[in-house]
Amino acid sequence: MANMERKISSFICSFLLWAIFMLDLVLKVCGNPEVDALSALKNNLSDPNNVFQSWNSTHVTPCSWFHVTCNNEYSVTRVDLGNRNLSGHLVPQLGQLANLEYLSLYGNNITGKIPNELGNLANLVSLDLYLNNLTGPIPNKLANLKKLRFLRLYNNSLSGNIPMGLTTIDSLQVLDLANNNLTGDVPLNGSFSPFTPASFLNNPLLSYNSIPQSHSGNGNRTIEAIAIAVAVALLLATLVIVLWKRWKPQDIFFGDAAEQDLAVNLGQLKRFSLHELQVATDNFNDKNILGRGGFGKVYKGCLTNGDLIAVKRLREECMQGGEMQFQTEVEITSMAVHRNLLRLRGFCMTPTERVLVYPFMVNGSVASCLRDRLESQPPLEWPKRKRIALGAAKGLAYLHDHCDPKIIHRDVKAANILLDEDFEAVVGDFGLAKLLDYKDTHVTTALCGTIGHIAPEYISSGKFSAKTDTFGYGVMLLELITGQRALDLARLANDDGIMLLDWVKRLVKDKKLKASVDEDLQGNYDEKEVEEAIQVALLCTQSSPLERPQMCEVVSMLEGEGLEEKWDQWWKKEI
Ligand SMILES: *[C@@H]1O[C@H](CO)[C@@H](O)[C@H](O)[C@H]1NC(C)=O
Ligand SMILES: *[C@@H]1O[C@H](CO)[C@@H](O)[C@H](O)[C@H]1NC(C)=O
Ligand SMILES: *[C@@H]1O[C@H](CO)[C@@H](O)[C@H](O)[C@H]1NC(C)=O
Ligand SMILES: *[C@@H]1O[C@H](CO)[C@@H](O)[C@H](O)[C@H]1NC(C)=O
Ligand SMILES: *[C@@H]1O[C@H](CO)[C@@H](O)[C@H](O)[C@H]1NC(C)=O
Ligand SMILES: *[C@@H]1O[C@H](CO)[C@@H](O)[C@H](O)[C@H]1NC(C)=O
Ligand SMILES: *[C@@H]1O[C@H](CO)[C@@H](O)[C@H](O)[C@H]1NC(C)=O
Ligand SMILES: *[C@@H]1O[C@H](CO)[C@@H](O)[C@H](O)[C@H]1NC(C)=O
Repeated sequence: MANMERKISSFICSFLLWAIFMLDLVLKVCGNPEVDALSALKNNLSDPNNVFQSWNSTHVTPCSWFHVTCNNEYSVTRVDLGNRNLSGHLVPQLGQLANLEYLSLYGNNITGKIPNELGNLANLVSLDLYLNNLTGPIPNKLANLKKLRFLRLYNNSLSGNIPMGLTTIDSLQVLDLANNNLTGDVPLNGSFSPFTPASFLNNPLLSYNSIPQSHSGNGNRTIEAIAIAVAVALLLATLVIVLWKRWKPQDIFFGDAAEQDLAVNLGQLKRFSLHELQVATDNFNDKNILGRGGFGKVYKGCLTNGDLIAVKRLREECMQGGEMQFQTEVEITSMAVHRNLLRLRGFCMTPTERVLVYPFMVNGSVASCLRDRLESQPPLEWPKRKRIALGAAKGLAYLHDHCDPKIIHRDVKAANILLDEDFEAVVGDFGLAKLLDYKDTHVTTALCGTIGHIAPEYISSGKFSAKTDTFGYGVMLLELITGQRALDLARLANDDGIMLLDWVKRLVKDKKLKASVDEDLQGNYDEKEVEEAIQVALLCTQSSPLERPQMCEVVSMLEGEGLEEKWDQWWKKEI
């Protein structure tokens, strides 16, 4: 018996060696199309800062190159070359990066056209070519990118019509074509959120007739044939690599495979193995702690593919409910997808651990940007704060109005409004309260939530509603304006022997608004806008939940609709 096994494993071993040898040979002889594609890009760009130094075209894969990220199959998923002072042209070979998800080349000095071949990148999630000098049309073939979520081409010199096919990309969340020279009709469609007028600003020749047009896209036949051939070749190569990965010796000899099988993908949501997260966070090392919330500690981590993640490890006290319930709630939470909501990337569940995995947000939170910023970081400017206020309101409105079942956050505060690489607000931590649903609400507040932002009705009776979130949002908005922590606001107010918010109210009545505005802004703000923001914040923090606006009304008010009437009513009542 044992002899037989040894024979089989020795056969597998020689087969593997042969396969690895063949693969190496194939790659050496034919070259790796991804190495070739990126080398072509490098050769067509002038690079004063030498960012391409590590891009050695004799390498078998590009996975060790800086600014390139690969997946487990050694195929490129990210190319990050924003703000690198590159100039020159994009190359059609980019269309060969079959697994590319993120292509960032913004803020350079790139000229020429956007290659049609980018329409072959079926896995592309984000295409950022803004702030360059690109000319020519937006290729119709971009409408083929069915996973695209971010398409930012603003501040170029693009011309021609906007491909109407873009309206058929259901996943598209952000479209920004502003400051170009586009012509024809705008695909404005109220029911389709990424197409707001702001997406098209400052294209003087665009017209807003919104006539539905026939879809174009009769691409060049030969290019398509080549693309198919390339795709088939890539498929075969990927197959070989996948097989090789699956059967590579250590998996067989060290039994790691069982662990990997746990990492089942549930649609978009990944179930991570504990081992994977231990590796990513250096075994939950204290040096990787990003924050400690009521629910548990949050760690920064790095997956083997280079993706940065935030790992929320729930405290034992916050781990009630069965595994089924946890998984169901996680899945419901993960269905809330909006540009202003933190996407749940995955979770991990073992008898002793419950862990949630999110993408890492490079710019921290509103709280950290206002108060823990480094000397080298500039303070948040007013226009950014305004955009954050609107983004956070949109995220919450989405949770309340577009999720089924409706999600109430219950812990809206500056530390839970995160900021992505563009300082866009991303509401985090939603769904958690439900996930951990406590019978005893006092335990929730004391143990697994935070005091200071919580609406009076929640503190006194444990009752919550969407209006509880409105209150938390109002306090966060005041923090954005004043730069003060909610607790400090309470203290400031208490020193005067009056309640929280009454301090701000009195400043409003005394017309001493300037006294409340964050000194970090150094007077650089639009007084009218700040005044309106304070009005919205005060409306949101009224003690009666019935009087507070819904979050969708907050969005309208911030966009300039209906604030005046609501404020007049409030004012009459107060005087
Ligand atoms: C890229 O560079 C090669 C030679 O360096 C040149 O032949 C080709 O035309 C360039 N491609 C583009 C799109 O500029
Ligand atoms: C590229 O790599 C090869 C071998 O891996 C090495 O011999 C060569 O010097 C490298 N070239 C550069 C420019 O670093
Ligand atoms: C980019 O190039 C411009 C002009 O060529 C130069 O002034 C600037 O300092 C460069 N920026 C970086 C980050 O190298
Ligand atoms: C952009 O590139 C052009 C040449 O292609 C060069 O003349 C110009 O100085 C560059 N601008 C910057 C800001 O680097
Ligand atoms: C690129 O665009 C900038 C601003 O739009 C302009 O100043 C610069 O001259 C342009 N460079 C080229 C090479 O067209
Ligand atoms: C984008 O272009 C607009 C109009 O040309 C200009 O006002 C704005 O400053 C540009 N944005 C950046 C970041 O350069
Ligand atoms: C915009 O495009 C029109 C033609 O479609 C052209 O006449 C005009 O010069 C372009 N403007 C700029 C600033 O490139
Ligand atoms: C807007 O989208 C809806 C649904 O996709 C469609 O029925 C309608 O015709 C579109 N309207 C315009 C003006 O394109």
